[in-house]
Amino acid sequence: MSSVGRWGEEDEEEEEQEEEHSNPTEVKMCKMVMPGHANHRHELSVGQLLKWMDTTACLSAERHAGCPCVTASVDDIHFEHTIGVGQVVNIKAKVNRAFNTSMEVGIVVSCEDLFSGRSWRVCHAYATFVTQRSATGKVQLKPVQQVSQREQVEHSVAAERRRMRLIHHDIIKDLLANRDLRQEVEPQSQQAVPAENTRVESVELVLPPHANHQVNTFGGQIMAWMVNVATIAASRLSNAHPTLRTIDMFHFRGPSHVGDRLVLKAIVNNAFKHSMEVGVCAEAYKGEESLRHINSAFMTFEVLDQHGKPRALPRIRPEPTHGVRRYQEAIARKKIRLDRKYIISCKQTEVPLSVPWDLSNQVYLSYNNVSALKVLAARNTWELSSEKNKVKLFTLEQKRALSIKVENQVEVPAERAFTLLSDLSLRVNWDPNYLKCELIRRVDDDDFLYRVVTPSVGQDRVGALPANQGSGGMSQEFILLASRRRPCDEGDAYVVALRSVSLPSIPPSEGCHQGEVLCAGFTILELTASSSLICYYNQASPEVLPYISTDIAGLSSTFYQTFCSCSQYLTRNRDSPAP
Ligand code: COA
Ligand code: ADP
Repeated sequence: MSSVGRWGEEDEEEEEQEEEHSNPTEVKMCKMVMPGHANHRHELSVGQLLKWMDTTACLSAERHAGCPCVTASVDDIHFEHTIGVGQVVNIKAKVNRAFNTSMEVGIVVSCEDLFSGRSWRVCHAYATFVTQRSATGKVQLKPVQQVSQREQVEHSVAAERRRMRLIHHDIIKDLLANRDLRQEVEPQSQQAVPAENTRVESVELVLPPHANHQVNTFGGQIMAWMVNVATIAASRLSNAHPTLRTIDMFHFRGPSHVGDRLVLKAIVNNAFKHSMEVGVCAEAYKGEESLRHINSAFMTFEVLDQHGKPRALPRIRPEPTHGVRRYQEAIARKKIRLDRKYIISCKQTEVPLSVPWDLSNQVYLSYNNVSALKVLAARNTWELSSEKNKVKLFTLEQKRALSIKVENQVEVPAERAFTLLSDLSLRVNWDPNYLKCELIRRVDDDDFLYRVVTPSVGQDRVGALPANQGSGGMSQEFILLASRRRPCDEGDAYVVALRSVSLPSIPPSEGCHQGEVLCAGFTILELTASSSLICYYNQASPEVLPYISTDIAGLSSTFYQTFCSCSQYLTRNRDSPAP
């Protein structure tokens, strides 16, 4: 799945064929939706659902940790469907990966209609739980055992999601500070609703039923209170019952306890044609203490008509200063949200290969790049197609894609191999397919944009390891995003992921055909202090397909030759700096 960093439809089908096995961290919750759980539309209130999701996930985390845990964050959630009174909610949670004191819990929510017997997915979420400090200090978590292929994929990609989560705050701050993503506030018509009219403030006293046995307020309870005030603000703008569509990442900055007063404030930051962004801020205090900032969240609401279609919304007139800033930031967040949904959540067929790279989507493209390679690498259906001098060529046939993997052990330390392979401009030294490679942009310490020129289409391979020389046709050019990652933990491989992007500022060079790489790259696994297992992956794009199939059919051995050239280059440069 080149463009999908998460488990897709095809994977789900494949998973059905996997052996049934019960995950020891899995916890299930099954609830009948009663009128008391519902809103005015007789649908399950999102606040109630969040409480159930948080409880299920917390029980899963604690089952793994063997000690009390608290919610540190919940990644963006998109609600695909609403759930009606009388329907059944099924929630499943399991720990995908344990890091040091934190772990990622995957949560899947589905709805079941008892009369028709139908069941459908409502949302999925990833929450991070952290073990509570004990008298002896921080509790270090044991690793999670992965048995099924799906568990292996989730475990591998969880490291990438964690990376994104931890930089999320800074990334969003930088983006919001970027003038290009902000729009001036247009002159408002007289009908525009003053934002002030939507302001809500509410206080809650944290009582024992809102907290766990350690007297810490449940994260789900705080989220539910936040949704409550946000819904009131959204109703004040629309004079209707709004439907919550998405919640941006929640981060619990600090704990709150029984006896705390929680002050929740919400206001509509901006209203677009069919959706509005409501911001909520949660602060806690006790007695004479000053307010502690616990959480801030941004939620997108729609108002549905009787056919379930989003209704047009009135415009909003922001308050001066903070209101104007939030109005502009809501526009930037909308763009970021769309990019994220487009790049991370879309089905592969809906995403063009060369997504335009820009500042607002660079984090998601980089996530997509690494996770796509990790998903490909974690497949357990690779078939050995040929082997020559211990260089193995594997193939993977899926419904919509053909991929290859070339694997060999080299007597080079993994860290050194990673340094040499992650600098794409060094590849001209060993890959005859790379005629030219120039660094266009250093995005950050781990992500780089390169322009690569390869020999012509039709006679030479492109976007892949091997090549034949001597083409007389048009050269091919690729704009590649190279994302490199060091292991997150022992047993993880180094990763160098490659995918095409397009850069509006770099039009195709004259005389060059623009090619695309779906998903390619290297994983480098340390075997001993001086040797590593190197795997090269490539998911066939139309340009590469004929050559891959020629190799697979045994009619040529260019992959083998190029891989040998790569191994020799690494061995030559194992101690000295690369030229
Ligand atoms: N998302 C996910 N994980 C996060 C995170 C975030 N935004 N911020 C920190 N973490 C993880 C760190 O990666 C680290 O994990 P590791 O040990 O596996 O490497 C772990 O939290 C501890 O990080 P550290 O830097 O030592 O702690 P911190 O001072 O940042 O505290 C919390 C993190 C979550 C413990 C702290 O913010 C907190 O107590 N929050 C309130 C939790 C709570 O009570 N929730 C219920 C509702 S109030
Ligand atoms: P920011 O102001 O940068 O958005 P905050 O954490 O201060 O970040 O607030 C988050 C959101 O909570 C704001 O965007 C706003 O929508 C809402 N909010 C904050 N303060 C208030 C307030 N005093 N009244 C109503 N809503 C508020």
